[in-house]
Amino acid sequence: MNAPSLESQQRERIPTTVCASADEACTQLAAEIAELIHRNEQAGRNTVLGLATGSTPVRLYRELIRLHRETGLSFKRVITFNLDEYYGLPRTHPESYWRFMHEQLFSHLDIPAENVNVPDGSVARSDVFAWCRSYEERIRAAGGLDLQILGIGRTGHIGFNEPGSTRESRTRLVTLDGLTRRDAARDFLGEANVPRHAITMGVGTILDARSIVLLAWGEAKAAIIAQAVEQPPTEALPASFLQGHPRARFLIDRAAASALTRVRYPWLVGSIEWTAPRVRQSVVWLSQHVKKPVLKLLDEDYSEHGMADLLTERGPAYGLNIDVFNELQHTITGWPGGKPNADDSHRPERASPHPKRVVVFSPEPSHAVLGMGGTLRRLVDQGHDVTVICQTSGSLALPDEEALLAVDLVGELSGAFELSGGPAAGFAADVGRQLRAKAAFAGDTPEIRRLKGLVRRCEERAALAACGLGRERVRFADLAFYERGRYRQFRPDATDAAAVVAILRELRPHQIFATGDRDDPSSITAVCFDLIRRACAELQDEAWFAACRVWLYRGVETAWDAAEIDMAVPFSPRELEQKTQAIFHHQSQRSQTPVAAGLREPWQQAEQHNRGLASVYDALGLANYEAIEAFQRWRPASA
Ligand code: F6R
Repeated sequence: MNAPSLESQQRERIPTTVCASADEACTQLAAEIAELIHRNEQAGRNTVLGLATGSTPVRLYRELIRLHRETGLSFKRVITFNLDEYYGLPRTHPESYWRFMHEQLFSHLDIPAENVNVPDGSVARSDVFAWCRSYEERIRAAGGLDLQILGIGRTGHIGFNEPGSTRESRTRLVTLDGLTRRDAARDFLGEANVPRHAITMGVGTILDARSIVLLAWGEAKAAIIAQAVEQPPTEALPASFLQGHPRARFLIDRAAASALTRVRYPWLVGSIEWTAPRVRQSVVWLSQHVKKPVLKLLDEDYSEHGMADLLTERGPAYGLNIDVFNELQHTITGWPGGKPNADDSHRPERASPHPKRVVVFSPEPSHAVLGMGGTLRRLVDQGHDVTVICQTSGSLALPDEEALLAVDLVGELSGAFELSGGPAAGFAADVGRQLRAKAAFAGDTPEIRRLKGLVRRCEERAALAACGLGRERVRFADLAFYERGRYRQFRPDATDAAAVVAILRELRPHQIFATGDRDDPSSITAVCFDLIRRACAELQDEAWFAACRVWLYRGVETAWDAAEIDMAVPFSPRELEQKTQAIFHHQSQRSQTPVAAGLREPWQQAEQHNRGLASVYDALGLANYEAIEAFQRWRPASA
């Protein structure tokens, strides 16, 4: 665990503990909860817990279930109050928070049913006000919340207190923010299906808890966490109101901590050891902060921005600027697989062997094309032996209408060729019947999932063909954890790990490209990355693996900080256009409810990322390209 320095404690307005992983944080918190329950029990008291739903607390709930099963921790004297519920959903709805809590926690514990309280999303509109008051009354009657567990939304919401919620707000009916609804779109199979309203405890209700722990995992939460921890409290960011609570704290993983000043700009909050990565990070920051290219930074810029000691150690600015400029310059290469027969002492990738065997992992079909479609084409054009491995089928992300389209096509085909009695036609007809009979939001049958996976396969083949890869260069691993799982409920096991090891052992790549290292641990990308991490650990001692480099790429949700990049592959406008065309083949993945304002479609996000990075390089004083895809080198042994 990482302890903040004194200076960063002054900057951080709420106690924040950074754990090595979400698992470590949850084990620690579950032990604290067990201790609280024991203490109260001994004093003859109940324990009153405020609980959250969403991806974030799932690991905590698994650990509590484990403690119950393995250590006999009893929940008979625990009373729970959930933060919120979608308005308009009955308890039985697959996405209701009532159902989520029972599936993820309550059904596995000995908690009495009458001790469980979840806001009622089905209460009549005219009764909502009275119902909300009675919820508050019930919390008071139970003795108030001993401990409130929170997650945080990307809008900064806690519960469903969206920006604009006051510190004094109480349990009430609220309207959900657009970003929050977009984040829930995957669960509801399209944004249009996400309820517009919810009942939530208020900020004031939450602040009445005797202690509060906010949890956050993954890089997607990093920016909002940094603001909530370091900016003055404001209604624009409801989680910032936790700062005023005497016993509130944040428990986060490293990725969620990555935008805190102590992590991103540590030289601003204490003296640090000026390692090469730190020097690069600080000079890039300075250049961006004072809006000057690296080579134009002056001694005064350094000393006026808390970097006087760097100047003393490495100055003057002139030489320091040149060193960092050269390092950044050397990240740029048009040869992502290495340039054959060239001096590679300052290139990100080795010249030989050439061609290289390259394995590109795509957690779902489409991820690799979105994250590195331009680089894929380069690798192929430059003669490398590239194989894309789609780790999962991606069937969960295919809308029903797209599956029906495929059913219809098979029907047409079999009609046209009088094949209607054939097994494929029979299968498609069966899936068609199942799809039409399916209740809204019900899970898919194995047959429906199979067909959906096949549609995604076809899209992926078409997209990769547009990047120059023939169909024999694409493999579909269809990892079992995904096929038997649902969002947030993936439990990879030894079979999945063995499948990834077997692929690598067979292909013996010189280069591996992967993504998901900093994502929420319950996400598909993070689960897939963890399997690669485990495979690398297992293969570490094999001779071929010593000659293999692992490169990380980013999805479209988060971008690299320029200082973290080890390889930047630039593209011409024409090449960017080709990448966009390739992404179009994943047509089932287009946004379901496009709106005029803002970038919504995956291809738009990818373009924005690649163009944005090119502008960042330009502003640092490097060459001005149309677009850049970037990679970081990952060293499995040190991970
Ligand atoms: C859930 C809740 C929300 C979530 C937040 C983060 O009961 O109140 O505030 O905690 O939206 O969601 P996840 O954990 O899914 O990222």
